[in-house]
Amino acid sequence: MVSPLLQIEDLAIFIDVADGGRQPILTDIDATLYAGETLGIVGESGSGKSLLSLAIMGLLPPAAHATGRILLEGRDLLAMDENTLCTVRGRSIGMIFQEPLTALNPSMTVGDQIAEGLVVQEGLSWQAARREAITLLDRVRMPDATRLSRTYPHALSGGQRQRVGIAIALAMKPALMIADEPTTALDVTVQAEVLDILDDLTRDAGMALILVSHDLGVIARMCARTLVLYAGRRMEEGVTRDVLTSPLNPYTRGLLRAVPRRHASGARLQTIPGAVPSFAALPPGCCFSDRCPDVVTACHSGEPAWTLVRPGRGVRCIRALEEATS
Ligand SMILES: Nc1ncnc2c1ncn2[C@@H]1O[C@H](COP(=O)(O)OP(=O)(O)OP(=O)(O)O)[C@@H](O)[C@H]1O
Ligand SMILES: [Mg+2]
Repeated sequence: MVSPLLQIEDLAIFIDVADGGRQPILTDIDATLYAGETLGIVGESGSGKSLLSLAIMGLLPPAAHATGRILLEGRDLLAMDENTLCTVRGRSIGMIFQEPLTALNPSMTVGDQIAEGLVVQEGLSWQAARREAITLLDRVRMPDATRLSRTYPHALSGGQRQRVGIAIALAMKPALMIADEPTTALDVTVQAEVLDILDDLTRDAGMALILVSHDLGVIARMCARTLVLYAGRRMEEGVTRDVLTSPLNPYTRGLLRAVPRRHASGARLQTIPGAVPSFAALPPGCCFSDRCPDVVTACHSGEPAWTLVRPGRGVRCIRALEEATS
């Protein structure tokens, strides 16, 4: 039997708060990803998408604490010391950030930034690593890769910087790539090109991908499976086509109604009424009950359990379960 590349078991993340206590931010997260699989994570701002990605990279901010297990190829990342984690990070997991400029070193040529990991982690000579950096820049379709490898990040466009970010993450041939809003800062044409590159890498190189986005169109294009988060909870998960065409959770339906449609000129784009509540003031019962159009009295008593309606298709909503069984 093939074992999963990544297995997240009962993960919770807490943040230190001013009064000395700890606020739960993400709760009850379980997920499984096999080699070459693509998982999209969607949800409104503040739902915990970035904290979840950072936890998998072992890059949580100092105020955040995780419980549970994050098994990468069977080894628990949460139980590793920083040195071991450093080796895993980069070698087995690569990360692409939303704003590539903040992730790049302004005082080093982009070629050397790509080469550095190969020298330090793989023991290549600088000369060989620089050659490899140009190959990697070619692979992420950087025009004029040889010349641009000798320039500094500030001289590149946003799209070119993101290509450099992907090349850095790719240099170590990670089995898993985590991309947190990788195209949000880019214009539409460049966004499509960067998604094409990621698509090629998952198809040809068999790399697994976790793609965080608030854009359901991006998720639909790139990811075979989708996980919907709200207020740090899993609201729905399944094959992307099922989640997007027959959503079970009213929250997912709300997200879908907020997506612009090409042929719906004149129709008003709907938003989900209300705002994501602060974690300290979640409503009792279901965390979405104060904004949910389908709310009933029972939704206010007790958090609904995460329930699999069939293998690989889960939901947290008592109304959805009523419908599924009626
Ligand atoms: N370093 C931190 N210190 C305190 N709270 C934090 C920290 N990082 C995140 N949080 C809180 O954790 C929650 C989840 O944040 P996260 O950044 O994961 O959301 P997100 O889903 O990625 O949102 P966005 O779509 O805006 O990127 C938010 O309420 C945020 O305020
Ligand atoms: Mg985020």
